[in-house]
Amino acid sequence: MTKTDIVILAAGKGTRMRSQLPKVLHTLAGKPMLTHVLDAASEIADAHKIVVAGHGAEKVRATYPDSAFTLVEQSEQLGTGHAVKCVLDNLRAQAKVIILYGDVPLITPATISKMLDAVDDEHIALLTIELADPSGYGRIIRDSAGQIEAIVEQKDAKPVQLQIPEVNTGVMALTTELLSAWLPQIGNQNAQGEYYLTDLIAIARSAGYSVRSVHPASASEVEGINSRQQLAALERVYQRQLADQLMASGTSLADPARFDQRGILNAGSDNFIDVNCLFEGTVSIGSNVRIGPNCQIINSQIGDGVEIKANTVIEQSTIGDHAVLGPFARIRPGTQLGSNTKVGNFVETKKAIVGNGSKINHLSYVGDAELGENVNVGAGTITCNYDGVNKHKTEIGDNSFVGSNSTLIAPVTIGENGFVAAGSTISSEVPESHLAVGRAKQRNIPGWKRPTKNN
Ligand code: UD1
Ligand code: MG
Repeated sequence: MTKTDIVILAAGKGTRMRSQLPKVLHTLAGKPMLTHVLDAASEIADAHKIVVAGHGAEKVRATYPDSAFTLVEQSEQLGTGHAVKCVLDNLRAQAKVIILYGDVPLITPATISKMLDAVDDEHIALLTIELADPSGYGRIIRDSAGQIEAIVEQKDAKPVQLQIPEVNTGVMALTTELLSAWLPQIGNQNAQGEYYLTDLIAIARSAGYSVRSVHPASASEVEGINSRQQLAALERVYQRQLADQLMASGTSLADPARFDQRGILNAGSDNFIDVNCLFEGTVSIGSNVRIGPNCQIINSQIGDGVEIKANTVIEQSTIGDHAVLGPFARIRPGTQLGSNTKVGNFVETKKAIVGNGSKINHLSYVGDAELGENVNVGAGTITCNYDGVNKHKTEIGDNSFVGSNSTLIAPVTIGENGFVAAGSTISSEVPESHLAVGRAKQRNIPGWKRPTKNN
């Protein structure tokens, strides 16, 4: 049996989230909870994915326009057993079926595989865990031989059963044939008047089949989310796991509790990341990089030996080796900084290619620009790239010097080794090795009297 059908239950309302958004679309580490489960499921070879949606089904559908899963609607939420019944027609014969939950986001591919390995024509698999506080969960009832006999929901349990620390995580796996045979036998004569999927266990036992229990590697894998408080708590658990992975790979964190990764972060070794940094999308960092406090780095590549000082924001950009940025630099999409470049405080760049060794140290806007090597851009320089309709390019050749408070009106070119006098407005080409002075000549008026106050 190599076919796997993965059913993800996600029809519940999520009342305690108090939200217009279906619960499973709330994000953990920047990604909807349901996407976490779908991603884990995608690691299983040859698996079909079926999502059961109910409340906000159209929003779920809209979130995954090119979805690689089948969406089945459960219009009335009559219980987990009823939810699985809704997908029976979508299951393949001779497949192993595993039931996951859209609001239990951190299940791992390894645990899903262990569950599937435990299934065969005679055995069903159940993911269980012992908890210090089992309240709220279904309890696992074992017979005197230690075999699983049944699951009793909290609301249906006798006081002595409430003492049992082993609980049902909800995750179950069995063949399509056994699931199809047993599901119709489930009734709703219980405290909640719901069709409980968990009743399958007792049905399996009475039909002479046995249940294999599998355990997750950690409790966070089976943590379910019902409220924003629980979501925030699990976020911290997950972020701590990501921080631990990063440290294990050779990057130091000033405080792993103040580190956030929402996406993929690849890092070399001997990096240091100070407090409150946020990494989003796909980010790669070389080695020997220092990142100061409160930086946000989105979909960017950072070279070796780079120093990013406090409060710097970098988005969709490439930073060359040994560049120094910030504090308070804003590197917008399409920026490519060469090696040994410097971009200092209150500098904004956008679609700017900056050659090796060039410096933009203070208070500038450099957009739609190409700078050669060893260019020095003085404080307060602005590339006027936008005429109100179109964007235009500024080109500055190698070894040029742009004096402070210059205005470069694009399209404009400054040749190699050009020199722009401070305070210039440059609207036409500066040829190679020329000095351009584009400012009103200073006049000194001798004996000038200051105005006097009227009456
Ligand atoms: C369920 C288990 C319980 C287990 C617990 C683990 C049953 C009867 N009980 O209880 O043994 O300890 O999970 O968290 O299965 N859902 C639907 N359609 C429905 C009902 C539920 O899609 O008609 C989905 C919900 O969106 C949710 C999941 O199934 O993602 C679990 O449902 P919920 O009502 O939260 O079950 P619990 O009472 O927590
Ligand atoms: Mg419930």
